Amino acid sequence: MASITNDIAETTALDARSSVAVADPCAIVIFGASGDLTRRKLIPALFELAACQSLARRFSIIGFARSEMSDAAFQESVARAVRENATCHVKDEDLRNFAQSFVYVAGDYDQPDAFTKLSRRLEELDRERHLEGNRLYYLATPPAVYPKVIGQIGTAGLAKPATDHSWVRIIVEKPFGHDLPSARKLNHTILGVFDETQIYRIDHFLGKDTVQNLLALRFGNGIFEPLWNRNYVDHVQITAAETLGVEQRAAFYETTGALRDMVQSHLLQLVSLTAIEPPSNFDATSLRNEKLKVLQALRPFTLETVTTNVVPGQYAEGQINGEHVAGYRHESGVKPDSKTDTYVAAKVLIDNWRWADVPFYIRTGKRMARRVTEVAINFRRAPHLLFRGQELDTNTLVLNIQPEEGISVGFHVKVPGQKLRLSSVSMDFSYLAAFGASERSAYATLLNDCMRGDATLFDRADGVEAAWAFVQPILDAWENKGRSVSPYPAGSWGPREADELLSRDGRHWRKP
Ligand code: BG6
Repeated sequence: MASITNDIAETTALDARSSVAVADPCAIVIFGASGDLTRRKLIPALFELAACQSLARRFSIIGFARSEMSDAAFQESVARAVRENATCHVKDEDLRNFAQSFVYVAGDYDQPDAFTKLSRRLEELDRERHLEGNRLYYLATPPAVYPKVIGQIGTAGLAKPATDHSWVRIIVEKPFGHDLPSARKLNHTILGVFDETQIYRIDHFLGKDTVQNLLALRFGNGIFEPLWNRNYVDHVQITAAETLGVEQRAAFYETTGALRDMVQSHLLQLVSLTAIEPPSNFDATSLRNEKLKVLQALRPFTLETVTTNVVPGQYAEGQINGEHVAGYRHESGVKPDSKTDTYVAAKVLIDNWRWADVPFYIRTGKRMARRVTEVAINFRRAPHLLFRGQELDTNTLVLNIQPEEGISVGFHVKVPGQKLRLSSVSMDFSYLAAFGASERSAYATLLNDCMRGDATLFDRADGVEAAWAFVQPILDAWENKGRSVSPYPAGSWGPREADELLSRDGRHWRKP
């Protein structure tokens, strides 16, 4: 995680945002090479790394999928994917060289022959391009296929490094399991073939600079940490709102929903990084140990608290940016009586000394009023109301994770004039203004970390299971009692019931 230390130490360097250390030479095998994730995220991220010389000069990428395709046809689709999705400037020559590093292997995930073919291709590439036997597998297939691929990699003898100096690693895309038992089973399967040190469970939120900035802000400064506890914090609000709907993913989303898709992973990452105790070191073991402690301290939901403290919602028709959009149940591929949650709000409590009685209100939803992800720390009200008769809001420190990356602090000042009148203002720090636009995506950061053997920003088996253990009682309650989802108009801030969740406690959601 070089980025954290570099960014803290070299805050004035304008190019700090694009600096990534060079990865080891290696072969990257993408399983699920014809899929959406590969096209939209992985190929553009690898291009970003190649373009800023953060991939080793010697690398090779093998796309593996079921459909037959020539290397040339695959290389064309790679170039298209970069043109359509890269966030950085694309030079023709860079793209030509990059695309030529791709080869394609067609095969069925059930067929041992396909993996023998893959093994031969890997050996050839290793010899031709001197890849030092290093291999990175990326599981970007539908999750149901993971166990098959892992099993075949094991059987083909592809999981073990060829020499003492080479490495073999595997990145497993989320969702890691569908519930607690399936996550445990998947851990069992994968640990039967790979060692924990070879396994990189990815959550792309951890690759975002602004998410890592949660740690930099708290532990790189002396002024925030003393306030970061129940003595000064009234409550925390974490929002991950999207304006997009389900898009073309109904088949996946109908059996997933927002709780599994967003809360179990991204939102719990934000909760744990906000609430974490200072790790003794910024290394994989220390950081993951501390994150785990937060997850283990989350107060488990009961049947009763699921009803009172968790609000599932589903978008109905409405307006997004002035345009009429369909309700979830009218999206293509969605059942007309679907009960899938496209929104979840919850009141989460952390039973430890730092956070006892400080609610963390979390919410996520599709088709909401604005695309915004933020963590808002709401401090306790000033104890002495010197300025009677004036409605004063509490002070809030907001970490804007996206899209307007930055930090703002809200406080009160005197309005100029003879009368002593107060007004709320905010002091804003903008990443864009300070460092320029970021050309590095979260996936690029994480792929580079993995190729350098840095697992700090990846999940460990126990961390993933702890997150599922927290979510499981909600899934069980919804299953047993039959879930009713509260409708909210597309383009709004969620269902009425979510507002009530806070108003019951005398609080209200921010409208970012
Ligand atoms: C993914 C979810 O993990 O994260 C998507 O599966 C969601 O449903 C996406 O849209 C949000 O990520 P980002 O980086 O666009 O905020």
